[in-house]
Amino acid sequence: MRRILVTSALPYANGHIHLGHLVEYIQTDIWVRFQRLRGAQVVYICADDTHGTAIMIRARQEGRSEEAVIADMQAAHQRDFAGFGVEFDHYGSTHSPANRELCGVFWKSLRQAGLVSERPVSQLFDPKAGTFLADRFVKGTCPKCKSPDQYGDSCDKCGSTYSPTELINPVSTLSGATPELRSADHLFIHTEQLRPFLTEWTQSGDHLHPDVAKWLAAAFLAEPLRDWDVSRPAPYFGFEIPDSPGNYWYVWFDAPIGYIAASREWCEKNGEEFESWWRNPATEVHHFIGKDITYFHTLFWPVMLKASGFNLPKMIHIHGFLTVNGEKMSKTKGTFVRTATYLEHLDPAYLRYYYASKLTPKLDDLDMNLDEFVTKVNSDLVGKVVNLASRTARFVESTGLAAKYPDDGGLFTSAADAGEEIAAAYDACDYNRAMRSIMALADRANKYVEEREPWNLRKDPARATELQEVCTVALNLFRQLAVYLAPVLPSFARQASTLLNQPIARWDEAAKPLLGTKVSRFEHLMKRVEPAQVTAMIEASREEAAKNAPPAPTTAAASPPAPATNVNDGPEALAAEPLAPVVSFEDFSKVDLRVARVVAAEEVPKSKKLLRLTLSLGGEERRNVFAGIKGAYTPDQLLGRLVIMVANLEPRKMTFGLSEGMVVAAGPGGSEIFVLSPDAGAVPGQRIH
Ligand code: MSP
Ligand code: ZN
Repeated sequence: MRRILVTSALPYANGHIHLGHLVEYIQTDIWVRFQRLRGAQVVYICADDTHGTAIMIRARQEGRSEEAVIADMQAAHQRDFAGFGVEFDHYGSTHSPANRELCGVFWKSLRQAGLVSERPVSQLFDPKAGTFLADRFVKGTCPKCKSPDQYGDSCDKCGSTYSPTELINPVSTLSGATPELRSADHLFIHTEQLRPFLTEWTQSGDHLHPDVAKWLAAAFLAEPLRDWDVSRPAPYFGFEIPDSPGNYWYVWFDAPIGYIAASREWCEKNGEEFESWWRNPATEVHHFIGKDITYFHTLFWPVMLKASGFNLPKMIHIHGFLTVNGEKMSKTKGTFVRTATYLEHLDPAYLRYYYASKLTPKLDDLDMNLDEFVTKVNSDLVGKVVNLASRTARFVESTGLAAKYPDDGGLFTSAADAGEEIAAAYDACDYNRAMRSIMALADRANKYVEEREPWNLRKDPARATELQEVCTVALNLFRQLAVYLAPVLPSFARQASTLLNQPIARWDEAAKPLLGTKVSRFEHLMKRVEPAQVTAMIEASREEAAKNAPPAPTTAAASPPAPATNVNDGPEALAAEPLAPVVSFEDFSKVDLRVARVVAAEEVPKSKKLLRLTLSLGGEERRNVFAGIKGAYTPDQLLGRLVIMVANLEPRKMTFGLSEGMVVAAGPGGSEIFVLSPDAGAVPGQRIH
């Protein structure tokens, strides 16, 4: 008997489940139900992914603890999944004692294997929010194509990728502040040492779709593998690293460990032995994920498992992304549909079937065309499957099914024979193929009913036996379809069981006809979808999005200049330093003032006043400047920001080295020094006129 542990990716606790997520959870749930029908022992595990900056920020904004935020979201997620018939054996949370402990186990193993090291990392820091900024919390102008309003890691317009420090005019999306570059020590996991293992594991053809294996070989394995940064300095919502106080495991370190932690909780609840599931070659671990998180699951995760002696996944099943009507889900178009909204308007069975009809083992995106959705559900499920029963069941309510299976010209046997092929398609996640085979069987069954016309037989009492025979055949063919569709449509399979008074519990129930059983009163099995229901769902999603739309992001360019808080415009400043004699424009032009960026800043140890700055004028041009501003600034506060420098000042030899310019600042001195900055948009090297 196969012993299978199945997971779906752990949804982030910072948002609701939508139709895009459901591609994955429905795909996995179908697979789990299929394997159970085939007699395997299966455990289906999931959990909320709770850690990281996003949750921390949300909690701050809502004035609640992170724990309160994630508890609410977890309840909502579980409700949504249950509404779609996605049934987990256990649904945990990455913010659990079990996960904290297991993270420690992994960490120890990685340390012992010599795979961890520490080095400083410069990262953008939001001085207002008091936190380092993940790439997607920074926006600015693309350094390549100069498109404004791009995220910190890649440009939507030209597709180039870069580091957030390369963005022009970066702005923190958390507070609207200009981020500063700050340095902190981070912990890294080396993957390069495990290259032979990774190459073998990813390229063996057993664990990944060939397209994924090829992509990994070309995109990652062709070059030295980069070390993986797994720590984040406080403040961070997560688990503090026991041997590195003040540092937290990065959310992507503890998230996959959450698979194991949730499994362990399930074991404890059910008297199962944990080791027999996660440290046992006889257990197959199957992960289902979307293509966006491939890299974490196929490179880092195997390394972590290998180093810690846990089961490696037997297979990672990777699906593409959902588009609606050929486009990315859109809030303004109402195609970004939350699970809860769908359930207010439509039967979950429709979507389960529609997704099944679209899913293949490939990574291609999957398009939900709303017109096709309506047509497919109506013509396949209602028109072909339900129709078989609705046109025959009533005629045998009083007699039940015949005691002997009539001659059907081989229909039942050939449909029974198709069972193995359909099973192979399910097992390979080729649900599209499985649905096509099932619908071909349904077509044949309907043809039979149309030819035998039970509605006419019924009018002639002399043909009552024939009527019972025709209905016995039709209902047995119907039941075969219900068995084959049971992984996709569990509640429909239950209704079919009730109708024919025989439960559907095993796949091979499709191989033997049901005879002599009672037939219950026919109840509506499934209604047609009305296009108006779909329209209403889209409309509701659009309204909801408009209602919940966050205020426009505060970027430097968009927000009006903030009013000064301490207006102190008295005559004292001017009086303290009277205006200098007039100079000609020509004389002024001799002074070459330039925009420059502080790319390095440090204290000059023996000096009370001086900071040593390295200024960039763009490109490779660097200037070393000693600035007398130590009383007012720490090096950290200057790192990364734009300043104005006198670029053609005669270099001056000082005790500490050569000063090649001057940073322009206002104020009397001491702690009252104010370094000048250009407005947003200026770039290093520009001259000030
Ligand atoms: N928290 C991580 C996963 C950690 S696993 C250790 C995450 N969460 S998520 O909520 O963003 O996504 C959960 C799953 O849903 C992922 O596998 C993701 O690929 C999938 N999908 C999210 N949006 C999707 C679509 N629009 N279409 C298809 N799948 C999508 O990633
Ligand atoms: Zn660009």
